[in-house]
Amino acid sequence: MIRRAWAALCLLLFALPAAAAPPARTGSWVFDGAPSYPGVTMMRVERAGAGVRGEITTRWYGPIAMQNPRLRGDTLTFDARNLNDNAHPTRRWTARFTPRGVRLTGDMWYAHVVQDGRRGAPAEVAARTFRPAPPLPALGSLPDDGLARTPPMGWSSWNRFAEKIDDATVRAMADAMVSSGLRDAGYVYVNIDDGWQGTRGPDGELRPNAKFPDMKALADYVHARGLKLGIYSSPGPKTCAGYEGSYGHVEQDARTFARWGVDFLKYDLCSGEWFYADADSVKRTYYQMGAALRATGRPIVYSLCQYGRFDVADWGRSVGGHLWRTTGDITDDYKTMSDIGFVRNPQFPHAGPGGWNDPDMLEVGNGGMSADEYRTHFTLWAIQAAPLLMGHDLRLTGASDAAILENGGAIAIDQDSLGVQGRREASIDGIETWRKPLAGGDVAIAIFNRTTADRDADVPPGLAAQGGRIIDVWRGRALAADETRLRVPAHGTVLLRVVAPGTTDQEGTKR
Ligand code: GLA
Repeated sequence: MIRRAWAALCLLLFALPAAAAPPARTGSWVFDGAPSYPGVTMMRVERAGAGVRGEITTRWYGPIAMQNPRLRGDTLTFDARNLNDNAHPTRRWTARFTPRGVRLTGDMWYAHVVQDGRRGAPAEVAARTFRPAPPLPALGSLPDDGLARTPPMGWSSWNRFAEKIDDATVRAMADAMVSSGLRDAGYVYVNIDDGWQGTRGPDGELRPNAKFPDMKALADYVHARGLKLGIYSSPGPKTCAGYEGSYGHVEQDARTFARWGVDFLKYDLCSGEWFYADADSVKRTYYQMGAALRATGRPIVYSLCQYGRFDVADWGRSVGGHLWRTTGDITDDYKTMSDIGFVRNPQFPHAGPGGWNDPDMLEVGNGGMSADEYRTHFTLWAIQAAPLLMGHDLRLTGASDAAILENGGAIAIDQDSLGVQGRREASIDGIETWRKPLAGGDVAIAIFNRTTADRDADVPPGLAAQGGRIIDVWRGRALAADETRLRVPAHGTVLLRVVAPGTTDQEGTKR
């Protein structure tokens, strides 16, 4: 009996170390088939004193250091810096080791990550090791280059097509811009937003994806129709939709765009917000591309897209920008549009010839708002001298949308050579009056009804007393002398142009 118990104990003592010996947790673990965002490709863990330290490597942000790492048994927990969530500037991640590998779980911004990894071979680890970009240049100041004297007008693919954009569709938009009369109304830029990028060649040169077989030929096609071509990139490794960004290739990409014949670049912060998180680095990264575009010698309108952070209107021009987004993304609904147009964009000063506040692309024609709401949208943009970049399928422009987008009087107010951003003058019970001085002494007045019932509003007193005619822009006619009270539909707008005395222009559509 004693002998049997002794034998069992010996067996247990021999077996125990083998069973309990934890598989080594340190080393490099790789993840195959990582979801696009944030795209964890690797995890490294190494001993540090009595504990461990390490990092995870992501496609979007490169290496993310583990904060407060703790290894207990088969579980490693750590905190990782989180983005765009002030309530959770870090999130807790967990790596659970199994005999076969590791399961990594955590949250980043909007994504919940669950990825299974395995030990990486040295070549795999080398291939996934992040290469930091060279340091940013010191901040410089670029002189005015004479472009964008009035707010840029054109079309952009994102609002309607998002990533479902290709060469044939862009050509079709260029054709429709001409045949619909939109080009002759002033719209010239045909801008490809996110989703055109492929991979880099061995020389680091960024190539379009298979949907864009020949960018130079596409630019030629657009130019042959009297139009200009725009393109899109990011200072980060990944664009907002997860395509290749210009990180580490800024000057090279600027030269590539210029060689293709590109006339407009939208540069969208996206994953760059990880690397350039403070005002200084954001300014420098935008300056870097601004200087790189200038160095190409090609006139390229430069559109900054960093959602209005760090008072961009104060420094957008000096980094070479001709327009800068003041907001997050517009969507095709009255609430979002009016939050941007009435509240957000007016907070930004400094619009004027050569540099414009950009409240984002137009939604007119996409169907989410009523005709009155779309007129309000267009009026808000016009009276604030905003870029007019259409965002719908130009082949399907309905009559009511065309009447808005091609209204010469409204366009003339937007494009006025004085380049002043109109401002709110009065707001009483949901009726707002805005004023924009125009060249030659004319004045634009917009009366907005922000309520959900039709209302009557007074023509601001004193306008008629100035002695000139008052044009009702959307109705296309002059007000009669006794028309001092006007009906403003729910969510709608009356747009007036007060023509300075002595002006003979019958339409009130000065250009
Ligand atoms: C961001 C921008 C949008 C659009 C998308 C593309 O969200 O703000 O205007 O360019 O990226 O991914």
